[in-house]
Amino acid sequence: MPYVGVGAQKASTSLTGPPMVKAYISITVSLLFVLLVAAVGLHHSERRFNHFKRVTIEDVHLEDSKTLTKNINSENIKEYLRTFTKDPHIAGTDANKKVAYAIANAWSNAGLEDVHTIPYEVLLSYPDFENPNSVVIRSRDGREVFKSKGVSPVILPDEQSGKHAGHQWLAYAGNGSVSSDVVYVNRGTETDFKNLKLMGVDINGKIALMRYGHGFRGDKIHKAQLHGAVGAILFSDPSDVAQDGEKQANVYPKTVWMPNEAVQRGSLMHGDGDPLSPYYPAKKELYKSRTIDEAKEDRVLPKIPVLPISYTTAYQILKRMNGRPVPSDWQGLVGGNLTYKLGPGFVNNDRLTINVHSELQTKRIRNVIGYIHGAEEPDKYIMLGNHFDAWVYGSIDPNSGTAVLAEVARAMMQTINETSWRPARTIVFNAWDAEEFGLIGSTEFVEEYVDILQKRAVVYINMDTIQGNASLNVETVPSIEYMVIEASKQVESPSKREKARGRNTLYDTWMKVFPDKKTGKPKIRVPGGGTDHAPFLNFAGVPVINFNFKNYSTFDTYPLYHTMYETPFTNIHLMDTDNLAVHRAIGQYWAELARTFADEVILPMNVTNLAQIMMSSYLPQLQAQLGGLNISRTDAEAIRNQFVNLKKTTTDLFHMSKKFEETIHFTRHSFSQNPYDPKHINGVNDRLMSIEKCFINPRGVSKHNPSARHVLFSVSDSDSYSNSLMAGIGNAINDYNESPTNKLLREIINQISIVQYSVLCVVNTLRDVI
Ligand SMILES: *[C@@H]1O[C@H](CO)[C@@H](O)[C@H](O)[C@H]1NC(C)=O
Ligand SMILES: *[C@@H]1O[C@H](CO)[C@@H](O)[C@H](O)[C@H]1NC(C)=O
Ligand SMILES: *[C@@H]1O[C@H](CO)[C@@H](O)[C@H](O)[C@H]1NC(C)=O
Ligand SMILES: *[C@@H]1O[C@H](CO)[C@@H](O)[C@H](O)[C@H]1NC(C)=O
Ligand SMILES: *[C@@H]1O[C@H](CO)[C@@H](O)[C@H](O)[C@H]1NC(C)=O
Ligand SMILES: *[C@@H]1O[C@H](CO)[C@@H](O)[C@H](O)[C@H]1NC(C)=O
Ligand SMILES: *[C@@H]1O[C@H](CO)[C@@H](O)[C@H](O)[C@H]1NC(C)=O
Repeated sequence: MPYVGVGAQKASTSLTGPPMVKAYISITVSLLFVLLVAAVGLHHSERRFNHFKRVTIEDVHLEDSKTLTKNINSENIKEYLRTFTKDPHIAGTDANKKVAYAIANAWSNAGLEDVHTIPYEVLLSYPDFENPNSVVIRSRDGREVFKSKGVSPVILPDEQSGKHAGHQWLAYAGNGSVSSDVVYVNRGTETDFKNLKLMGVDINGKIALMRYGHGFRGDKIHKAQLHGAVGAILFSDPSDVAQDGEKQANVYPKTVWMPNEAVQRGSLMHGDGDPLSPYYPAKKELYKSRTIDEAKEDRVLPKIPVLPISYTTAYQILKRMNGRPVPSDWQGLVGGNLTYKLGPGFVNNDRLTINVHSELQTKRIRNVIGYIHGAEEPDKYIMLGNHFDAWVYGSIDPNSGTAVLAEVARAMMQTINETSWRPARTIVFNAWDAEEFGLIGSTEFVEEYVDILQKRAVVYINMDTIQGNASLNVETVPSIEYMVIEASKQVESPSKREKARGRNTLYDTWMKVFPDKKTGKPKIRVPGGGTDHAPFLNFAGVPVINFNFKNYSTFDTYPLYHTMYETPFTNIHLMDTDNLAVHRAIGQYWAELARTFADEVILPMNVTNLAQIMMSSYLPQLQAQLGGLNISRTDAEAIRNQFVNLKKTTTDLFHMSKKFEETIHFTRHSFSQNPYDPKHINGVNDRLMSIEKCFINPRGVSKHNPSARHVLFSVSDSDSYSNSLMAGIGNAINDYNESPTNKLLREIINQISIVQYSVLCVVNTLRDVI
């Protein structure tokens, strides 16, 4: 394996610089060191040992951190951003292949090692670019009274004149034309469909008109199809995306609010990864177990035609609609004060037709990977990643992240070139392809390398999109919470206004904008789906951090999300106007997280915090859920007994991890006495790395989706953007509620026991003997 050789060789290089005490030294390397001291002579060795006495490990880390932070430069980010967003670059196209090679080039030029691409052959979907999708309204006598263009207009010709940039479409939509009555179903959630029925409106055989927001678009379509809709239309409501009104002065390009002919594009796939090769990588030479028809039958891909429309086009539909006015929380701001109606159908018997042109194609995609090999422990990976494919130009989603990641790579290499620093563990850079279609590049990668990742990956750190400029926002697993908070205190605020108000770091503003009143810490959720960290956590059990910058708003995303107006102008002149200060801060935070994981002698993971959160939050939530079951006293007793057992094992974990903290303390102390003996350190770190894997159930937590394998945190079955806690138990409860049999009741108990078994695995991992 190349990394062994490179690691050892690079270690000797960095030994020539003075502040080498920062990282601990493996046996091979200490041997090298002895040789080196002999070769280099007394002068150097004296400097080293003087340093060793004077400088603490913390001091040296601080010094490296400062240099690295200083090296991250806004001008470079701007340059990378322009390079990666020149053309529309949908996954599977030549334009996107060019972006892959531009990233590989940027990384190689900076000096990353072993930069290469990893290909997969996957099922993607495209519209007919010569023949836009449309909404047509005809009067009773067949006269066309309205037809949508299906193409958004160019607003800034310098950045938006690429071919077909304005095309409005949704990936994996069914192909065809449908004429029927339209029914309004608000956000298309399960509750919305239920309420629609209660209000006496039947969606069966109709076209569902739904607003974006409150969940993944693919799940809306999935539900519409389940309820019998024959076609669907999605639109962005001005109440979400143009909150100051639709007037030109209040929308893009004057502000970040969505302009009137824009649409949100996106994928409709339900589930992650190549639709035809579930659970296994879509390699050319491997068999694909699912057919397209099966993917449609399994509801992985929709059957019905679907298209996205602008709020201006939505007005043409809504203003004609028949039926009762909608409930107040279904009412939006299309047309300012238009009253939305439920339908079905139009007044005057006008007819609605949707024309959708959609084609499935198998295409080659390419992930890009590059390394900075660690000086001490090259086979421990700190993985950083983001995708690069976009619906159009993608300068916010995802290339704000791609540009920053390239600059993090460059700044790290600059720091390595100019100082004696080299990370102790390996830092791996990943640029994923075809994320937009359903996390395909990252999912195929994790499926291919799951075994290696479980052994080598310490953490995966994702930063997809800078959504706004208000505050840092971080999602992670409980064992890493402390670390992500500490790192945020090391990075200066990008906002002059915030600093003028005494909030000098990312942490200060984060605490102000997203506080968690209960814990007195910033609000940190466990990551759900929707971006590339998901397969790492849910399939492989690698701890993940997913972070970004975003606004106060409760709205899912940002107004220009997946529109053709995500070009550099938006980043530079609307969202991050102080010379990309937010982009820079994001890079500094990313680098700080990576450096800490790479260099800390003991991995910054806190098992006690996991036990604590389980006891104070997860178990009470579970108890409430179980209390809601409508069952006999004996059955309730049986469930309670198992719950009590789970609670007891969790308490054991708490005590065990307290004891383990002492071991860590002792190990750290003995290391500072004798940094040339890494045995104990490795013992502690190996255990810390095993913790998250205890929660992986290889059989899957849900019979519906065997790739959801994390028993605590799995992507929700009903909303792919969010996370359901202990999904196995949740699914068993749902199944029981649907048909209360003794077997399904026993399955609830079994699922509680499986969670307990995972907690027991952690307890055993921390033990010295079994
Ligand atoms: C609705 O808006 C229109 C134009 O913006 C205005 O003329 C009309 O008075 C408004 N109606 C109500 C009931 O507010
Ligand atoms: C889509 O449907 C149209 C008819 O509505 C048909 O002519 C066309 O061949 C179909 N395209 C694909 C890719 O199936
Ligand atoms: C670091 O040094 C390598 C080797 O000389 C060089 O190729 C690379 O461009 C340098 N990187 C930076 C960011 O200075
Ligand atoms: C985002 O937050 C900033 C404050 O940082 C505020 O000025 C702006 O109006 C917000 N924008 C949106 C779209 O919510
Ligand atoms: C922050 O974003 C808001 C729009 O959400 C914009 O009005 C404001 O100018 C931005 N501030 C900076 C400093 O970029
Ligand atoms: C670990 O987490 C526990 C419980 O939340 C907390 O009391 C402790 O201070 C944390 N330890 C470290 C080193 O962060
Ligand atoms: C609980 O279940 C019993 C039958 O076992 C049923 O009669 C009763 O209506 C149920 N209660 C609720 C609130 O669902």
